[in-house]
Amino acid sequence: MYNLMYVVKKDNGGFMDTHKNMLTEPIVDLKNVCISYGKDPDVLSNVNLSLDKGSFHFLTGKSGAGKTSLLSMMYLALKPSKGTVFVFGSNIGYAGRDSMAMLRRRIGVVFQDFRLLEHLSAYDNVAVPLRIRGMSENEIKKRVKELLKWVELEQSMDKICSTLSGGEKQRVAIARAVINRPEILLADEPTGNVDNDIAAKLMKLFVELNKLGTTVVIATHSKDLIAEYNYPQIHLENKSVKVIPALRRSAHEN
Ligand SMILES: Nc1ncnc2c1ncn2[C@@H]1O[C@H](COP(=O)(O)OP(=O)(O)OP(=O)(O)O)[C@@H](O)[C@H]1O
Ligand SMILES: [Mg+2]
Repeated sequence: MYNLMYVVKKDNGGFMDTHKNMLTEPIVDLKNVCISYGKDPDVLSNVNLSLDKGSFHFLTGKSGAGKTSLLSMMYLALKPSKGTVFVFGSNIGYAGRDSMAMLRRRIGVVFQDFRLLEHLSAYDNVAVPLRIRGMSENEIKKRVKELLKWVELEQSMDKICSTLSGGEKQRVAIARAVINRPEILLADEPTGNVDNDIAAKLMKLFVELNKLGTTVVIATHSKDLIAEYNYPQIHLENKSVKVIPALRRSAHEN
């Protein structure tokens, strides 16, 4: 049987073990943050939001509310027009290019539009973060194959990404985001293109990673997902952020 834990747990070279001393402060901390594009009005205004290490949140709000913009800021790809952003305790306003790149390596991200290397195979896309880390090709092969099996892409791992379906690309993007067992996982509509069975499997992957310590934020429009898993929501409305606590304990938490 497939052993999910092989990929996500048996990994002493990952970042999580080497940064245990950061347990006490929020892993993401936004203070009076505004997001705007050019001279357009603010998308989000005066946002204050702290995410504890190991937390799991859904990110909700209607289309255009600013979910992707907020995730881009947490991924350090978008600077706030006002306010201060701390990620892993570092004020990113003062972070240079190299330290931003180092911080980003600790974050797994699933982009809404996937952003795969389209000319490479599914296998090579998922292998990228491990190659950057300098892992041996033998070990990479074991891990990438296991994870692609889990997301039901075993038969398609040698296909060039530009030839994959939307749902297949989405699973490659997810596998690439989690293969390095990131400290933070930011996933933008990660189950938007797949059927319910695969969506449940992908959610299981996120829940397992979270149990191992990864802080997870999942942007979604799916009321079913929110109702079933019942994690707290970061809800965006009228340029503001409201955290809606989980009402009951999720059946998937234990
Ligand atoms: N690169 C950009 N340049 C200018 N405006 C942008 C840019 N990216 C996003 N916006 C604007 O910011 C607002 C928020 O967009 P964002 O993509 O963050 O919303 P969203 O909540 O992710 O929506 P969806 O649910 O449709 O993905 C929108 O009004 C959008 O037009
Ligand atoms: Mg979006």
